Amino acid sequence: MATNGSISWSTNCCSAFADALSRRLGQPTRGKTAPQRLRRTDTFIALDGVLRRSHPRYLDVGFGEDATTVIETFERLGPTHPRLCVVGIEIDRARVAVALPLAVAGSIEFVRGGFEAAERHGPAGVIRAMNVLRQYDERDHTEAVATMARGLAPDGVLLEGTSSPSGRLLCANVYRRRGDAVSFDGLLFAPNPRRTWNPRELQTVLPKNWIHHCEPGSALDAFFGAFEKSVGAARRAELESAAVAKRVVGDLEDAGYRCDRRPALVRRSLFIVRDPLGVEPSLVRT
Ligand SMILES: C[S@@+](CC[C@H](N)C(=O)[O-])C[C@H]1O[C@@H](n2cnc3c(N)ncnc32)[C@H](O)[C@@H]1O
Repeated sequence: MATNGSISWSTNCCSAFADALSRRLGQPTRGKTAPQRLRRTDTFIALDGVLRRSHPRYLDVGFGEDATTVIETFERLGPTHPRLCVVGIEIDRARVAVALPLAVAGSIEFVRGGFEAAERHGPAGVIRAMNVLRQYDERDHTEAVATMARGLAPDGVLLEGTSSPSGRLLCANVYRRRGDAVSFDGLLFAPNPRRTWNPRELQTVLPKNWIHHCEPGSALDAFFGAFEKSVGAARRAELESAAVAKRVVGDLEDAGYRCDRRPALVRRSLFIVRDPLGVEPSLVRT
């Protein structure tokens, strides 16, 4: 199981994964996207402060059939990050052509490329690849993450995961560069707190390296059981969403899971669980 940070590196790509002629790593997949779908990733990035600590370059890998997510991210984060440049990377030539007229030199750019393009167009403070690897084989996950992670600037963050079509439910692996190493920081659960949600629904948007490992009785199933129990109890106590989130993080820690306790994240129902399997993750080998 290629899960959290326990990632092994292989230089032998399977043929569907590597486009040998172009050397683009990956293949075009369905391009569906939607307005506001990835809003919660930017809420996390803004609160985390990574674009200030690291580098003001943001790569959106696999932006899809139009430029929506790239433009929205620039509009959300640009006002507070004056040097921000958001670069949309897409492996599908026609989708890049559709987006290019919206480019603004130095602020919003579009390029054609696969996972390897993250390194070519880095270093970046943020690399986001949402709803991209979900359409790949699980065995491709490790190599794709390691390849993209090479584009991270010092202290930069890579978010890789899945969302529901509207963005009501979102879940992503969080990886961070520290010196020469890139490590798994945890699994981010980012439901929209203004809409109804329950923890088990988040199973449906688990990233590719987790989604097939949630069978009843598994360690991940046990985690979701603890998550569900805590949210249920907090809601029965009629707490509002920030209080529910605070209590849930406390309960998960009491149950032995290590969580990101930064109040700004917790208040916004951004749950980062470092060890959802109850084991210490290791480094990503880039
Ligand atoms: C479902 S869309 C996701 C769009 C957007 N990220 C979102 O979440 O709304 C997936 C896109 O990723 C692109 N893609 C797949 N593999 C890729 C790769 N290796 N490098 C760059 N883009 C890729 C596909 O061509 C497709 O347009």
